[in-house]
Amino acid sequence: LCAYGRSQQFFFKSKCCEVIYQQDPPTDDHVFFIVDRNVAWSRNSTLFLSAGEHIKHFSCLKEILNYLYVKEADRGTILCVVGGGSLCDIGAFAASIYLRGLSLMLVPTTLLAMVDAAIGGKTGINFKSGKNIIGSFYPANKVYICMKFLDTLSDQEFKNGLAELIKTAMIGDAILFTILRERIHDILHKDLNILLDIIQRAITVKGKIVEQDLYESEGVREHLNLGHTFAHALESVSDFSYSHGDAVAWGINAALHVGRYLGISDATYACEVQELLSSYGYRLKVPYKPELLVNAMRYDKKRTRDHLRFVLQENAQRTIVQSVDRRCIREVLEYLVL
Ligand SMILES: NC(=O)c1ccc[n+]([C@@H]2O[C@H](COP(=O)([O-])OP(=O)(O)OC[C@H]3O[C@@H](n4cnc5c(N)ncnc54)[C@H](O)[C@@H]3O)[C@@H](O)[C@H]2O)c1
Repeated sequence: LCAYGRSQQFFFKSKCCEVIYQQDPPTDDHVFFIVDRNVAWSRNSTLFLSAGEHIKHFSCLKEILNYLYVKEADRGTILCVVGGGSLCDIGAFAASIYLRGLSLMLVPTTLLAMVDAAIGGKTGINFKSGKNIIGSFYPANKVYICMKFLDTLSDQEFKNGLAELIKTAMIGDAILFTILRERIHDILHKDLNILLDIIQRAITVKGKIVEQDLYESEGVREHLNLGHTFAHALESVSDFSYSHGDAVAWGINAALHVGRYLGISDATYACEVQELLSSYGYRLKVPYKPELLVNAMRYDKKRTRDHLRFVLQENAQRTIVQSVDRRCIREVLEYLVL
């Protein structure tokens, strides 16, 4: 069982990223902190920001860079970002460009940021209507996992992270998948020991994938996008009234339906995943026309004229990336809408 006091190391190209499990964030005096205002924690030398997707913007980047300048940050400065995925993304981006790179610590405070955003080095801000259009690959030197932050997290934010955790289990950890199936009650009631264990397992899967493919150039990192082409379409069609977690859960199920339609996905496995998603309260049918959802995929980065590239699964741990005809997607979506 994972416990406080443990740490893991990943090597993202030549950079070592240490993940440390402890009660509190670091408190070193020479560290500059950027902290999410919704997080119950503070230190000297802190810039507080009201986090959320809106902060991944040039104006906030300028505020962070200005703070570093006024505080006379130098090459020896360590920047520590305490917050959810949005603050981790912009804070890490600022660290990557200020003086051509400051030492970076991340203290993710949402479940999603713990298992996903803080691990793997993707940083960024949004630009015009595009998400994460400007950014860099800049892994943190250290990531602190401090479970107490989960106490104040809303159920909706918790579910956002849980959907990514389920996806990660499907891709790379059969034991994690079993724990998620067997300990639903404990997980939803935030049992600390179980949460520590599943978070560490999810971080291990993501860390190992990113070690193989930091720049998403050798294919395997693409597996982490399981369900996401569908999820992005749903978020866009619903004008973001579906949260990211709800959209990802629906998207995972949709990817398995496509896999079954093409004779790729194992039927028993697809049913197990569907049951698991329902048990955690995710809705598996949505009130939008298939045509609308397919149209919303037209901006997907992985598209060609008639085909879209999808991450699909044969069964647990066997993940593939395949081009699928738009007509097939439209037909499958008929079963996934109300
Ligand atoms: N870099 C990556 O690899 C990667 C991966 C996945 C997601 N992301 C990015 O992460 C962002 C989403 O992150 P998120 O889901 O953490 O959302 P978020 O950072 O927007 O936080 C959601 C809300 O929770 C609040 N919050 C944060 N910690 C809290 C706590 N402990 N208690 C109470 N409230 C708290 C925040 O203030 C905010 O209002 C997106 O911008 C997405 O693009 C990045």
